[in-house]
Amino acid sequence: PGKPGKPVPGTDFDAVAPNTADAVVIPDGYEQNVVIRWGDAVLPGAPKFDFHRQTASAQAKQFGYNNDFVGLIPQDPLNWRNLLVVNHEYTTETDMFPADQYDPENPTEEQVRIAIAAHGLSVVQAVRDPRGGLRVVPSRYNRRITGETEFEVRGPAAGSDYLKTSADPTGRKVLGTQNNCAGGVTPWGTVLSGEENFNQYFANASSVTDPVVAKRLSRYGLSGGATTRKWERYDDRWDVAKEPNEVNRFGWVVEIDPNDPHSKPVKHTALGRFKHEAANIKITKDGRVAVYSGDDERFDYIYKFVSKGRYKKGKSAHARRHNMALLDEGTLYVARFEGNSPAEEIDGTGTLPSDGEFDGTGKWIPLASGNESYVDGFTAEEVYIFTRLAADTVGATKMDRPEDIEPNPVNGRIYAALTNNSDRGAAGKPGADEVNPRNGNRNGHILEWEEKRGDAAATTFEWRLLLVCGDPATADTYFGGFPKDQVSPISCPDNVAFDRHGNLWISTDGNALGANDGLFSVPVDGPNRGQVKQFLTVPVGAETCGPVVTDDLVLVAVQHPGEGAGAAEPESHWPDGGKANPRPAIVSVWRKGRFHSGRIGIR
Ligand code: FEO
Ligand code: CA
Ligand code: CA
Ligand code: CA
Repeated sequence: PGKPGKPVPGTDFDAVAPNTADAVVIPDGYEQNVVIRWGDAVLPGAPKFDFHRQTASAQAKQFGYNNDFVGLIPQDPLNWRNLLVVNHEYTTETDMFPADQYDPENPTEEQVRIAIAAHGLSVVQAVRDPRGGLRVVPSRYNRRITGETEFEVRGPAAGSDYLKTSADPTGRKVLGTQNNCAGGVTPWGTVLSGEENFNQYFANASSVTDPVVAKRLSRYGLSGGATTRKWERYDDRWDVAKEPNEVNRFGWVVEIDPNDPHSKPVKHTALGRFKHEAANIKITKDGRVAVYSGDDERFDYIYKFVSKGRYKKGKSAHARRHNMALLDEGTLYVARFEGNSPAEEIDGTGTLPSDGEFDGTGKWIPLASGNESYVDGFTAEEVYIFTRLAADTVGATKMDRPEDIEPNPVNGRIYAALTNNSDRGAAGKPGADEVNPRNGNRNGHILEWEEKRGDAAATTFEWRLLLVCGDPATADTYFGGFPKDQVSPISCPDNVAFDRHGNLWISTDGNALGANDGLFSVPVDGPNRGQVKQFLTVPVGAETCGPVVTDDLVLVAVQHPGEGAGAAEPESHWPDGGKANPRPAIVSVWRKGRFHSGRIGIR
């Protein structure tokens, strides 16, 4: 590698320079629109958004807060009508309510109910606008899933005693989904969504005295008293001291069928319980389904689930029912990575070892399959419900915060964003290894691996780092061997996506280089491998999420613009401008003159 070639198909745009503008900045020759923003109507009868007079019943019909994952599911061959499925990860009440209405120490019950309704997912129909971009329309598919929507628990741990509560003695019915971060569209047209930092909603873990229970809670980040949002004041299920098992009912991959607005969403126990960043599928050589998912915490793991049953092609009701049961049974694995360079060459500075690559081999360690556990001291249901503790015992590799993981549809390799880990190499913490090669890793890296014989069911693989992110002018970065004076700086990779050509697109969260976050493209094969180019930047305080990249349309979720400044003196006024408070929103971007409205059928 190392010789720049011609413009790479799919990345032929002029890179946007790093900036701190309170705007979505796109390349010259491109146009953009806001597709939908927090508070916009999703369901019939949704009142017009009023920042000063929000209600829970309005919010339950409106687009939720802090959009993260975006799934775009075409409904016709011209992609004219589409379903847009969006996660609403979390709320920051001090930015959502006028300062004179919200007392963080004493939220009202109505404010708590608004926040619960602002979580979950939205499904909307979005059509191609002849003027460009996507436009949301009223439709029978439009749906809100909130912190109160009923889910069915499925898979080997459904009905477990660990999942039973006073409100649900069956352990099979959960109200709501929380902290839905990234996700994936399945080959059968449903959406998987990861429940990530669910720990923050549960109070009073500090009052638990049973050491076994306390250890489990602590491993999942629960140790404190009151929560920031104080939902526990209005509903005991958020209080671990009163409802000890409710917390076990979060931390799952959930599945939503956007094609049927009356379908009951599912929580899949076979995929394990941790801070699921996302879930993306690759079909194995023999037609089964592999699901990749990262656990986004410093020093946590990368997992894979392989189904027992085989995927059935086609859209018949029979095929859909069959495919929607595939995630009920299979084998759950956790990843171990081994480097191929001598340990003394991995010094924690990011300097490449003498073989010129951070690379090596790895294996998938089975944790459980159906009702059988492979982990000493854990029943199968304990493996699924306390997955982190089970994985701790089998020698899995502690990673630098695994975020989104996706298979590349063109080259078949798998790509994972490891966003950062400032604790790597700190006193009492694990130091650098070849797959996490920098101590005090502030800028993150991108990992790729190839399953043996390209089969997603394989239990061994070969891996390499594609990018060691940061300022290309510093020695501790690596851009796939591409000349570093010809790339955009990139920091804190979070969500990943692929275009039709197999180029990787990376969105960032928490840019540690002093500019706003953004979206970047990078070819992964050929002479331009590693040529990172910035496609857009997002407004002040925002992270970039949910990229979708089609031939003529790019979608991003602009999450938490202006976060943390408080509603009285917002630091961002995007997207409404003027003195308006900021609103998380979905943006579509297209090249002038290259967008196909669908209505006229040009392809
Ligand atoms: Fe919600 Fe790991 O990002
Ligand atoms: Ca090496
Ligand atoms: Ca994320
Ligand atoms: Ca994030």
